[in-house]
Parts: sequence; C-alpha cells; structure tokens
Amino acid sequence: MNVYLVGFMGSGKSEVGRRLAEKIGWAFEDTDEIVETLEGRTVERIFAESGEGRFREVEQRILGEVSARTGRVVATGGGLFLHAQRRALMRRTGVVVWLDASLESIRERLGPEDGRPLWRHEEPIAMRALYEKRRAAYALADFRVDTSAADPEEIASRILARVRPVWR
Ligand code: S3P
Repeated sequence: MNVYLVGFMGSGKSEVGRRLAEKIGWAFEDTDEIVETLEGRTVERIFAESGEGRFREVEQRILGEVSARTGRVVATGGGLFLHAQRRALMRRTGVVVWLDASLESIRERLGPEDGRPLWRHEEPIAMRALYEKRRAAYALADFRVDTSAADPEEIASRILARVRPVWR
C-alpha cells in the first residue's frame, strides 16, 4: 500500500508529499528525482538531449519498481498518471490523490525560468489547453484536494485525514 500524489506541474506534489511521508512515518519517493539520479542529468537535459520518449521510459520503469514496494508516499511527475496502464498500476497498489491547483496559482509558483521542459510561461493559452486536457485523467484519482491556497503542511494533514479511513 502506497500513497501516490498526482496532478499538474506545480500543484505541490513534492512539497506536500515530503510532509505527508513525515506525518505517516513512511519513506518519500519523488519519481522526477529518481529519474535524475539514475540518468545523472536533469529532467530538462533528458528532454533536450534524448527526447521526451526516453524520459517516459525511465519514468515508467521507476514506477514499476516503486509500486512493487509498500509504505511509500510517492510524488509522481505530472505526466505519469495520464497513461492508462500506469494509472491502473497506481490504483492497484495504493491510494491516488489528485493535487489540484488553479492555473493562476501554478503560474505564480512556477514563473518563467522553471526548468520544466513542458512548462511555457510565455504561452498561457497553450498551457491552459494542456491543463484542461489533463484534468479528465487526474479526475480518475481516488480523491481530489485543492492546493491553490492552503500551505503544504495543512494539505498534508487534510490528505492524512482522508486516507486513514481507507487503511482501516
Ligand atoms: C511533466 C512534469 C514534470 C516532469 C516532466 C514532465 C509533465 O514533473 O515529470 O517535466 O508531463 O507534466 P512535475 O509534475 O513534478 O513538475
């Protein structure tokens, strides 16, 4: 049993995940961080040098490994829950929580020089389209938490209150 945090870039998965793991006393995993460690380069460089396909391949392998363990809070990259098979794997091995923030709050958090290859601060219309398109997939999580305004600590407490009954 794991807890998977899914949602758009900048929705707070890593920050909230770290705090949630601490509260539960579980290990914290961040799929983007693991990709970077394994590849020895940043996500940005992987996209630029080897393409998104390579990144998705490594990401999928990592999900396979992480989901074979239990007792983890896993912050996932924003594209991981979009793929039906990966989604099914997460749902089978844990509780999936959608961290949902307004695009406006995401824009404030990420800013222009973010280092995320798919985030284009200067293209608000394209970002709106990507954001809207992905919501249908994120909505397949077990439940949704709005992260637009509250701080990460409080969000982690709210998630804990929701997942505890599922464990019983
Ligand atoms: C991606 C989100 C990023 C990272 C990669 C692709 C996406 O992670 O995995 O840049 O497709 O939404 P965060 O959601 O942690 O920003």
